[in-house]
Amino acid sequence: MVLLFKSRIKWIVLLVLMLSTGSLVVHLSITKFSATNLIQYTAVPALSFDLPSTSPGSKRVIPARNKKLWGPVKALESLQPYANPRTTYPVPSEKSNGYIYAKVYGGFSKIRSSICDLVTISRLLNATLVIPEIQDSLRSKGISSKFKSFSYLYDEDQFIASLKNDVRIVKTLPENLKAARKRNEFPIFKPKSSATPSFYIKEILPKLKKSKVVGLILADGGCVQSVLPPSMAEFQRLRCRVAFHALQFRQELKVLGRRIVERLQGWDQPYIAYHPGLMRDTLAYNGCAELFQASCSSYSKLLCHLGFRLLYGLLGLK
Ligand SMILES: *[C@@H]1O[C@H](CO)[C@@H](O)[C@H](O)[C@H]1NC(C)=O
Repeated sequence: MVLLFKSRIKWIVLLVLMLSTGSLVVHLSITKFSATNLIQYTAVPALSFDLPSTSPGSKRVIPARNKKLWGPVKALESLQPYANPRTTYPVPSEKSNGYIYAKVYGGFSKIRSSICDLVTISRLLNATLVIPEIQDSLRSKGISSKFKSFSYLYDEDQFIASLKNDVRIVKTLPENLKAARKRNEFPIFKPKSSATPSFYIKEILPKLKKSKVVGLILADGGCVQSVLPPSMAEFQRLRCRVAFHALQFRQELKVLGRRIVERLQGWDQPYIAYHPGLMRDTLAYNGCAELFQASCSSYSKLLCHLGFRLLYGLLGLK
């Protein structure tokens, strides 16, 4: 009996050893394979059975089953009205409760959602928003602090103009307040990205009314909770307008982007454009869920299909 038990344990140990060795070998080979492929950037050749390569000038023949997949993607322009207000929506009142200035830290997506939230908060508090100061993008690239950080990335005038019915936005604090800010006379807050609207009404609004200026430091990729109560649907929609309509890269960056796309197109091979703003949670976060719903079926299918094909291509699987 004991002998039988012992030999059974032996077999089990042997089996476990074999399995882990096997998995190690598989992992190592996949890592090696994908690493070399990634370095050589061979995603397109790996997909070549789908995409017969053609000499320049000849009309590319795409097999029928892939026509839909590699066809042109429908533009989002037709969906723009979805971000407009749907209820009575007064323009910002003449009487502002004061100025909000802000320093924004983080990478592109954090900058974006922080700016969306700042506009939302300014509307909530009837405050005038001073164009936010973006910290990391310039400093980490060694760009002189003499540049105005927002307009280095975004089109400032378009931003102000397109939100004129939502909030009053100014480029800088008035001179007398600027001096007072240098003397640290105004309260500064560091709100979390999960801060509630009532935090702003209860904690920040009284200070804003009293000192006429408050400073916000945003390092969290936002400053107000991502899902707002249903009564605040218009604020959620405002975030969407900021993210996808008001906040646009400045002209020179758009030209550069277009040039990159033209180069990709000149290559005469299908290419994948990745837009981090079109992820499901980003859209939902910015109150653009409807935008996503409307285009969900076509986009998610496309993205999913492309994602898997690319992944399989990199791993050398079919
Ligand atoms: C902002 O102004 C609107 C009217 O324009 C008013 O209904 C609302 O109570 C004001 N909110 C604050 C926080 O002052």
